[in-house]
This record gives sequence, C-alpha cells and structure tokens, in this order.
Amino acid sequence: MEEIKRPAGVGKVFSRRRFLQVGVSGAGTVLGLSYIGLGLDFLQPPPLGAEPLQTVGKTADFPENMPKPVTYSGQGVKEGVYVVNLGQGNWLALDFHCTHLQCAVNWVAAVGKFMCPCHGGVYDIRGQVLSGPPPKALPRRVIKIIGDSVQVGGILA
Ligand code: FES
Repeated sequence: MEEIKRPAGVGKVFSRRRFLQVGVSGAGTVLGLSYIGLGLDFLQPPPLGAEPLQTVGKTADFPENMPKPVTYSGQGVKEGVYVVNLGQGNWLALDFHCTHLQCAVNWVAAVGKFMCPCHGGVYDIRGQVLSGPPPKALPRRVIKIIGDSVQVGGILA
C-alpha cells in the first residue's frame, strides 16, 4: 500500500492558523474579562466609612444628650444624620433612617428616645433598638471633632 504524503508545510500552516485562532480568541477573552472587571469596579460602592468628612457645625451647636439633625452631603448623596453629643468627648453620628423600612426617625426629647412614626420602632440615644420591628440599631457614620468643628463622614459597619 502506498503511503499518502502530505505536501510540505501543510501541517505547519494548519498549526500556525490554529495557533492564531487560539491566540486571538484568548486575547479577546482576556480583554472581555478586563472590561467586565472594570465595570464591576465602577459599580462597587466605596468602602464603608470612606466618604469624605463634611463639617456640619460647631461643638457648641450640639448640647449634651440632645440629638440634632443635620444633612450630610457626600459623593452625590444627601442623608439626614443625627449628631449626638453624649458628653465627656463622646460623640455619635446616627443615620436618620429606621432599619425596618427606612422611615425617618424622630428624636422625642420628652421621652429621650428616637421614635419611628411608621410602625412604632423605638431606639435609645445611642441608636440601639428598644422595641418594635427594627431588626438592628441605627447605622453609625464616622464623626470627628477637629478643634471646635464637628465633621461627619461615611457609614460605619
Ligand atoms: S419603618 Fe420604622 S418601624 Fe417600620
């Protein structure tokens, strides 16, 4: 039986073509994944607490144990925040929104508690749940006292 001989270079041309096909599709895959990765980076929220500090008033504007609402504006977000001066250099910045269904809570000085008007959630002055449906404490934000300036930043864990 006669052996069929392949013309010279046919095997190499096929291999080169296949190599190029694999190389081009591999490079396309890598570029595509990089693009998706960049997109996901863009969509990710900033790390907790990373939003810029914003001056919300002077220390004298916030009497002890009298939470006062201020507006925090950072990275396109406007949020209601309660600044709480607990005395002896202890400060809190509590997010305005009830952790049940996000209604705005009110500080009720007569009873010394935050009350949610929607479903009766009650929080203490530190934002801890006392009663009602809220599943967890009011979120805290970064707060810094620099000189007599009260500065609020991003949400803490
Ligand atoms: S939204 Fe506050 S208790 Fe439901």
